[in-house]
Amino acid sequence: MSQESHKISNSAQEIVFDHVVKTYPNSASPAVDDLSLTVPAGEICVLLGPSGSGKTTALMMVNRLAEPTGGDIRIGGRSIRDLDPIQLRRSIGYVIQQTGLFPHLSIAANIATVPKVLGWDRKRTKDRVAELLDLVGLPVGEYGSRYPTQLSGGQRQRVGIARALAADPPVMLMDEPFGALDPITREHVQDEFLALHERIRKTVIFVSHDIDEAVKMGDRVAILREGGRLAQYDSPRALLKKPADEFVARFLGADRGLKRLSLVRLSDLELTRAPDTGTGELPVLPGEATLRSALSLMVAEGADAVRVTGDGGAVIGTASMDAVRKAGAA
Ligand SMILES: Nc1ncnc2c1ncn2[C@@H]1O[C@H](COP(=O)(O)OP(=O)(O)OP(=O)(O)O)[C@@H](O)[C@H]1O
Ligand SMILES: [Mg+2]
Repeated sequence: MSQESHKISNSAQEIVFDHVVKTYPNSASPAVDDLSLTVPAGEICVLLGPSGSGKTTALMMVNRLAEPTGGDIRIGGRSIRDLDPIQLRRSIGYVIQQTGLFPHLSIAANIATVPKVLGWDRKRTKDRVAELLDLVGLPVGEYGSRYPTQLSGGQRQRVGIARALAADPPVMLMDEPFGALDPITREHVQDEFLALHERIRKTVIFVSHDIDEAVKMGDRVAILREGGRLAQYDSPRALLKKPADEFVARFLGADRGLKRLSLVRLSDLELTRAPDTGTGELPVLPGEATLRSALSLMVAEGADAVRVTGDGGAVIGTASMDAVRKAGAA
């Protein structure tokens, strides 16, 4: 068998969990039990569930840091059993919690770790480091020679992502990558990652225990319950609209209706035409605001509608409370 056949190809790959079981030695019950799900190439799948539900275990089986005790995982149609574990790990970007940057290495050297192992020459490595730091908004001239302690938490997370992307892996595994950030920085890094993903389209498995994060980041969300069993696997919208059972409903929370409103933007609504002149003072929001924000503003201001502005800031129409309510129930 040639060297190349041990590797997975560089384009985004579908990942299939096929009746995967993991029982750790000396364990009475499995950590992951009969897990079957497919992550389409180029999508983000969020694994969501309470502590101990097997999320990290499921993730680590993909790059064989944990070996399945039953079933199979296929990447791009190839069983991970047929792939060399070392090669496999090099072709998968892995972002662990707290980023796991090497404290004694500069930011540039941290990112160059995998290219170095792969034997890239200096020029190629240097160019790649500069390109990636640019991609995550940390220009190499300013940040490349710093050490991890000389960055903010959010910047470290971005370096962690850049490092995972270094060898352009088709698959990325991210274990609560933004877990340690304050809510504002976290939202910012989430937005950045989504924008980045639009451009690079990797297949991503993303572990979270935060429902809002899962709904925001996931094309699909897999909810695991204790014992590592899959409770539901669906789009965020479908999940929030129709929880499969009591466990999922409780996990999503009583405000899941509001969460659904956060998936729809005012510009997605059929707006009623704005009156030519202001009839009373309605609050104003841009079209990209979510229905959740619109509802919140209407409640805060005691209004029954919001005026919606377009790209240039001109009013393009009005969204009523009723329209928001209907869209939320759709
Ligand atoms: N190396 C190990 N040996 C034995 N049992 C383990 C090992 N790693 C994890 N487990 C057990 O497997 C189960 C699942 O653990 P896992 O770390 O996958 O959960 P998790 O969903 O990632 O939880 P958290 O949200 O707390 O990170 C737990 O009961 C845990 O105690
Ligand atoms: Mg975990």
